[in-house]
Amino acid sequence: MKIAVVGKGGVGKTTLTSLLACHYATQGRPVLAIDADPSPCLGPALGFPAEKLLELSPIAEMQELIGERTGAAPDAAGNFFKLNPRVADLPDRFSQVHEGIRLLLLGAVQQGGAGCICPASTMLKQLVRHVLLARDEVVLLDLYAGVEHLGRGTAEAVDAMVAVAEPTHRSLRTVAQIKVLAADIGITNLMLVGNKATTESDRRFFEDNAPDLPLIGCLDASAQAVSADRSGRTLYSLDAALAAAVAAIARRIEDGATPAAMAA
Ligand SMILES: Nc1ncnc2c1ncn2[C@@H]1O[C@H](COP(=O)(O)OP(=O)(O)OP(=O)(O)O)[C@@H](O)[C@H]1O
Ligand SMILES: [Mg+2]
Repeated sequence: MKIAVVGKGGVGKTTLTSLLACHYATQGRPVLAIDADPSPCLGPALGFPAEKLLELSPIAEMQELIGERTGAAPDAAGNFFKLNPRVADLPDRFSQVHEGIRLLLLGAVQQGGAGCICPASTMLKQLVRHVLLARDEVVLLDLYAGVEHLGRGTAEAVDAMVAVAEPTHRSLRTVAQIKVLAADIGITNLMLVGNKATTESDRRFFEDNAPDLPLIGCLDASAQAVSADRSGRTLYSLDAALAAAVAAIARRIEDGATPAAMAA
């Protein structure tokens, strides 16, 4: 199962990714969680201890490795470099594992402009492509800003793209934009999860305003979110209602996953 999580800033992508990761790990399924945020937050949300977090570096910042694998200096946009660098060993080599969840940080590429093709971005894309096509675990991608790490040929390996929204028109407008971008790269299996609902009217808001997408669940605003952050424990372990809600969401994701991908 390969799931990409997207949505406007701050809506709860990292929270949902962490809940799904804990859900699958609790089921005994190996999980590879990928944090594509330039200021990574998924590790703390997954309860990784500080010493393991310190061991993690984003792949995008490993200039020597990027140079070695692509055959180019990392800032050598425009020069020759390999478009298919070897990446298969990276997920195991540069990740940390905690309670059955393997975590890998992608980091941010210094973009040279729209559509920049540089050694670092090429390597990250190849890495995402590799984990989607070749890894056996449940792969969860916390995609941060958009769908730029995905492309044609990779998109079809994504079983489900889950867009997160708050009960606001703004966050749903972002989902509508993501829907267009996702369709452009061949992702049709986009689903919506509402988050931070506090009232029945919030829950209805998602139903009434979802931009022509299946609404596969709604997570309530949790009173445990702050204590999860402060204690370094997972929200999944502190809020049984959210854990149950995410289990239902995971079932809907699997129900809606594309038949070809389910068979793989
Ligand atoms: N269901 C929830 N209940 C309570 N607080 C929540 C919930 N979901 C998310 N939050 C809180 O909202 C804030 C943003 O959540 P999160 O970091 O998951 O969003 P994000 O979409 O990953 O943000 P970013 O775009 O910055 O990566 C955090 O403080 C988080 O604890
Ligand atoms: Mg985040």
